[in-house]
Amino acid sequence: MSKVGIFGAGWVGLVTGVCFAELGHDVVIRDVVPEKIDALRQGHVPFHEQDVPELLERHAGRLTYTLDVAELADCEFLFVCVDTPPTYSGDADLSRVWTVVDELPELEGRPILVMKSTVPVGTGEKVRAGLDQRGLDHVGYASNPEFLAEGRAVRDFMQPDRIVIGAYDADDGDAVASLYSSIDAPIVRSDVNSAEMIKLAANAFLMTRISFINEIANVCEATGADVVKVAEGVGLDHRLGPHFLRAGIGYGGSCFPKDSLALKQLASNSGYHFQLLSAVIEVNELQKRRVIGKLKRHLGSLRGKRVALLGLAFKPDTDDMRDAPSIVLASRLLAEGAEVRAWDPVADGTKLPEGVEVVASVADAVRGADAAVIVTEWDELKGLATRETREAMANPLIVDGRNLLDPEETRRAGFAYEGIGRGASLTEVLPQTAQGV
Ligand SMILES: NC(=O)c1ccc[n+]([C@@H]2O[C@H](COP(=O)([O-])OP(=O)(O)OC[C@H]3O[C@@H](n4cnc5c(N)ncnc54)[C@H](O)[C@@H]3O)[C@@H](O)[C@H]2O)c1
Repeated sequence: MSKVGIFGAGWVGLVTGVCFAELGHDVVIRDVVPEKIDALRQGHVPFHEQDVPELLERHAGRLTYTLDVAELADCEFLFVCVDTPPTYSGDADLSRVWTVVDELPELEGRPILVMKSTVPVGTGEKVRAGLDQRGLDHVGYASNPEFLAEGRAVRDFMQPDRIVIGAYDADDGDAVASLYSSIDAPIVRSDVNSAEMIKLAANAFLMTRISFINEIANVCEATGADVVKVAEGVGLDHRLGPHFLRAGIGYGGSCFPKDSLALKQLASNSGYHFQLLSAVIEVNELQKRRVIGKLKRHLGSLRGKRVALLGLAFKPDTDDMRDAPSIVLASRLLAEGAEVRAWDPVADGTKLPEGVEVVASVADAVRGADAAVIVTEWDELKGLATRETREAMANPLIVDGRNLLDPEETRRAGFAYEGIGRGASLTEVLPQTAQGV
């Protein structure tokens, strides 16, 4: 078993830490935020992610939390799991990665610096050169990008589709692979540049599928087809598969928006215009705003109208609000003069623009509302279309941004219903066109 040091106690760092502990390794997790380290020492996970609290408790004896890099001095592996947010130009901000390199403690033997953060292609080369310049040529370097999805992060780590390892030295790659030896998954060994690109390309492909099905949804709306059926029929083609074919109000979160920008920027810095990716990003931006058009079609001007935003996190089972579509929607609604009441079971609504009233229950959010918008497909919202909701609302309109509800059942329950790409509602949405008026 090995001693693993981890820089960063965020989603990736903490999940990596507790999962390596589950695999039997000793783990030291270092962060720069004292409150996070204090919370972890007291057994509290600083964010909402299922299975992490249990693993943290089960392996308390193998997990150490610290602010002090010196405690990582005898680690055989040093995983970099710090955040790499976008800069104004769209490039990834690698300042935290460089801080880690600068802060490395005195290291003996051949420890390996392992990059798990998502970084532009070419980062490994720069860090390798940076290590050499600092007299750390005895420190190995490997790229081992992370593919976990929040909400199912532990499962994704323990049962990954693949483990990608890029290294300059084959022995370093072998050593990193040995950490995962009890996980049953294909290991893709590559050069460092390719490992970095695999992560960016995989995310870009997933986003392309989302923007693709969202555009199909918009054409469904214009033509009377139902994107849910269309996606089912398309997804059963074994060449295409069913994943990431769920139409909605666009992707968000801490990874897709920033990683798409970083790849677009990386390409353009290298003299290549990545046209398809630019379109994927633009489609996503427009998709978030389509809800406003749907609301206006039913309510006319939104000035003074009360809108309930249901679900704020960028997806269910996480409290992550980074780049959540709810933020764009809330600020568009406020700009239209609407009153916005927002609810989420776990996410921190104070991250929404000022002026939004954050309430504690769905019932509080819909009371007196002219429309309810499902932004995140939380299980709690599956039963939204009840008599109580209808009677509580000033106007029983549901705009279902995640196609969570059954349109017919919702309409039968007395609501006007708008999904995304559910063209069966064409006659209702555009009565004058459908009736030839
Ligand atoms: N969140 C995801 O779903 C996900 C999935 C795959 C890959 N990634 C990538 O992994 C990286 C980390 O993402 P995240 O969501 O865990 O970020 P995060 O913001 O949740 O966590 C990063 C942590 O690093 C800490 N940190 C900053 N500088 C540090 C330093 N010098 N030493 C120690 N800790 C330091 C921060 O305080 C923070 O706690 C990013 O590059 C991200 O793109 C994220």
